[in-house]
Amino acid sequence: MTPHQLDYDFSGLFTPPNTPGLDTGFCMDAELEQARRAIVAAHDEGSLGFMGLVDQQLDGLRQRLDALCEGKNFTQQVVIGIGGSSLGSLAILESATGPLKGLETFFSENIDAHSFAQLLGKLRLAQTLVVVITKSGTTIETMSKFWILYDRMIEELGEQAASAQVIAITDPERGALRPLGMARGFELFEVPPNVGGRFSVLTSVGLVPLVLAGFDVEGLLEGGRAARDHFLASPVGSNSCALMAAHQVALMRAGISQVVMMAYCDRVLPLVDWFRQLWAESLGKRVDRQGRVVHTGITPIKALGVIDQHSQVQLYAQGPNDKHICFLEVEQVGPPLRVPAREGFPEALGHLVGKTLDELLEAELQGTRSALQAAGRPVSRFRMRSGSAFEVGGFIMGWELATAVAGELLDIDAFDQPGVELGKKIAHGLLGRADLRELAASYTQSSSEPEMVSLFC
Ligand code: PA5
Repeated sequence: MTPHQLDYDFSGLFTPPNTPGLDTGFCMDAELEQARRAIVAAHDEGSLGFMGLVDQQLDGLRQRLDALCEGKNFTQQVVIGIGGSSLGSLAILESATGPLKGLETFFSENIDAHSFAQLLGKLRLAQTLVVVITKSGTTIETMSKFWILYDRMIEELGEQAASAQVIAITDPERGALRPLGMARGFELFEVPPNVGGRFSVLTSVGLVPLVLAGFDVEGLLEGGRAARDHFLASPVGSNSCALMAAHQVALMRAGISQVVMMAYCDRVLPLVDWFRQLWAESLGKRVDRQGRVVHTGITPIKALGVIDQHSQVQLYAQGPNDKHICFLEVEQVGPPLRVPAREGFPEALGHLVGKTLDELLEAELQGTRSALQAAGRPVSRFRMRSGSAFEVGGFIMGWELATAVAGELLDIDAFDQPGVELGKKIAHGLLGRADLRELAASYTQSSSEPEMVSLFC
C-alpha cells in the first residue's frame, strides 16, 4: 500500500439517459489535448510560473528565516493577508495531521474590528513575527491592519526592534509595500511576477509562514511535483487534471453550473475555501479572449459532511438539478475512537456499538453519495488517505492545473480578476484617495430615497 493517495473518481458523473449529468459517450479529447499543449507552452515560455514552483530548493529560504530568528525568542507569528495571499497557507496549515513544532500561527484576513482587537489581545508583541503579505502592496485590508499592529509594536518595542520583526512579501517591483519595507529594513521576500495571487501558495507567500510554523513543506512540494509530472506525462484520456476540468466544463455546458465541494473531514475544509477562490475568480468572467461577452463561470459552493447533511443535502437532492456534488474524502480521519459497549446504550442503536467514528463517517458519506446518485445528481469523489502534506500538495497543484485547463476550454483569461477592481477603486475613493473620489461619488451618490423598512414595530 502506498503511503499517499489522491484519487479522482468520476464514475458518478455518468448517468443514464434522461437524467442530467454527462452522457456515457462524453469525449473532449481533441479540445483537451489542445488545452494541455497551450498550458505547457505557456509554462515553457515562462509566462505561467506556478507549475515550476514545485521544483524549487528551500535551503536559501530556510537560511534566511533561521538568520532572522537567531538569538530571538519568537513564539508566535501573525500572518496578515487576504485572498490568494493567505487562503492557501491557512488551508495547508489547518490540514496538518499532528501538532507542529514551529511558531504558533495566527491569520488575520478580514477587516473586522472586533476579531482584530481579539487577535491583538492574544499577541505577545516582543515574541511575535509579523508576516505581511500583499502582492499588489496596496490592499486596504492588509496594509491598514498591518499598520495598526506595527504601530503598537513600535510603541512597545521601539522602531528598530519592531521593524526587525517584520517580514514583508510582495511584488519585486510594484506597489507600496516594497519601498516601505526597504526604507524600514523589513525582511523582504518576493512573489514572482509570473505567478498570480491565487496561484501563489507555493511561492514565499505560503512557504514562509508554513516553514515558520514547522509544516512539512518538502512533502507538500513533493506531492505538488508528482501531480505536475502526472499532468505533463499523461495522455488527456487518463490525465486527472485535464479530466477534472473537462468534466466540470461539460457539466456546465449541460446546465450544471454549480459545484458543491463537500469535505468529510474538518481539517481539510479550509482547502475548500482555497478551491472556492481559485475556481470562482479564475473562471467567472464576462468576456472571452476574443472580447465576446460570455458571462461564464462555475459557482463553487462549500459544504461540510456530515454537518451539511442536516442542512444542505435536502436542497442538493431535491432542489434544482444544477449542482455537481464533489466529495472530498479522507480515509483515515483520526484515531480509532469507538462507541463503547457500556450498558444502557439504546437497543435500537446497538449496531453502532464497537464502531469507530471513522466508520460512522464513512457510512454516512456512502449513504449521502448513493442517495444523491439515486436522485439523479452528478457526483464525483476526491479520496485522500490521511490528508498528508504530500496529498495536500497534489490537491493544490492538481486544481491549479485543472483551473488552467478549464480556462483554455472556456477560452477565457483564468489569471486576471477585472470584476473586483471597480469595487476596490470605489472603496479607495470613499476613503479619500484624491484621484478616485469622483469615481466613487458617481457610483454611490443616489438621487432617489432609499427604500427601506424596519423589521421592528
Ligand atoms: O488572485 C488574486 O490575485 C487575488 O485574489 C489576490 O490574491 C487578493 O486580492 C489579495 O491581493 P494582494 O496580494 O495584492 O493583497
